Amino acid sequence: MNHRSLLLWMLFGSLLALAVARGNSNASLTGHVLGDHEDLNEIPVRYDDTELWRIHNISDALLWTVPVTEIMENKFGANIWKENPKYVDLSITKTQAKGARSFLNAHRLDTEVLARNVQDLIDEEQLEGIRATQAKLGRRIRKASNDGSEMNWNDYQSLETIYDYMREIRAKYPDICRLYTIGHTYGGRELKVLRISENPRDNKKIWIDGGIHAREWISPATVTFILSKLMDDWENQPKYIRELTWYIMPVMNPDGYQYSRTVNRLWRKNRSPSTIRANCFGVDLNRNFDIGWTSQGSSKDPCSDIYRGSAPNSELETKAVAEFLSKRKYNLEAYLTYHSYGQLIVYPWAFKAVKVKDANVLQRVANTAAERIIQKTGTPYKAAVTHEVLGIAGGGSDDWSRGVLGVKYVYTVELRDRGLNGFVLPPKYIKDTAIEGWTVAETVAQAIG
Ligand code: ARG
Ligand code: ZN
Repeated sequence: MNHRSLLLWMLFGSLLALAVARGNSNASLTGHVLGDHEDLNEIPVRYDDTELWRIHNISDALLWTVPVTEIMENKFGANIWKENPKYVDLSITKTQAKGARSFLNAHRLDTEVLARNVQDLIDEEQLEGIRATQAKLGRRIRKASNDGSEMNWNDYQSLETIYDYMREIRAKYPDICRLYTIGHTYGGRELKVLRISENPRDNKKIWIDGGIHAREWISPATVTFILSKLMDDWENQPKYIRELTWYIMPVMNPDGYQYSRTVNRLWRKNRSPSTIRANCFGVDLNRNFDIGWTSQGSSKDPCSDIYRGSAPNSELETKAVAEFLSKRKYNLEAYLTYHSYGQLIVYPWAFKAVKVKDANVLQRVANTAAERIIQKTGTPYKAAVTHEVLGIAGGGSDDWSRGVLGVKYVYTVELRDRGLNGFVLPPKYIKDTAIEGWTVAETVAQAIG
């Protein structure tokens, strides 16, 4: 070995040691997070001069075997917000809009402009949240009191605030709460699950998660709201709620969540680097579970937003959840996972165009939830089997919990809205949307009985 390569090896070695040391210390000792510092070094991505489009009748073009979504993504640099058998929502820069339009016209595809400037949506969301928080602080000062909690549903909250809130609840109800760190992310952040149970040994179990996809901020907000609904008045909850064991994981993808808060509002995946494509990051965690992993609706390309990873469970987040739940599948009756957007309550399967055997039961419970939501907030939710309304996609946590763990009541809830703001849902809608999410959880709990 010559001088230069020896030096390089020494450098490599010490960098590796440094990385390992940082990875360990930040997670276990201080609770301080390595990832935040790294994210803050990046220049935030802006979406000026970017429009939000909906392309209709997408399956007509599919009959002609034109991969519209792929072409929009790869040729015109579009960011796919949502794809289903009927339409595709995407954001696209004004520079690319012209070319994209003539391509779409050539294929007789109707395009509707949902928003003229995506950055405006993002800015408004942020401003509104700041105003709401200031208004609340003002009230608090006037009352000269402090409830001791930063947590609220006037705005979207940081990972730290969410984790502090979980710790606070566990400190307040130590007899029935248990807080787990079920693993760590690539960025060294903790993966946290709160268990609420009066009888862990015998109770039937329900699992609830949020934040699988980073940009779907309403999801962690809803799951923390569900937590507050349970715990603010636990003693007066009906029997069917108190006699369950609740597992609650508000943020399954903490790295992605923080990245979407600090760098790129529209980030979807986690943040693990690809080993085969130097500049591409992240795996779609909802394509990384070990069921129908190679079926359609996910991508082999590490740069894609729906990259399925190098193997099932290749990601720390997926692996941690799969291991945790596999050990607890006994009596596990329900698996609820919150996403946005679309206002849907869907059940398996997603990885194949088949319904589960007891689909009529799952449809009925979902219908009940949707009816109750209409009564409470007036918002329409559609109950359906996943592949029919969202298209086929493998590797999802919902299918996995059903297919591998054998959970009966499996639902993916797509919260608000239906495309007006998409992921960038104004904070003023958080509370009502969270009530809708809570209504689904309540209804499923009752169905378990
Ligand atoms: N929007 C969610 C996603 O794309 C829907 C999940 C439905 N379930 C599924 N296994 N695809 O991941
Ligand atoms: Zn999602």
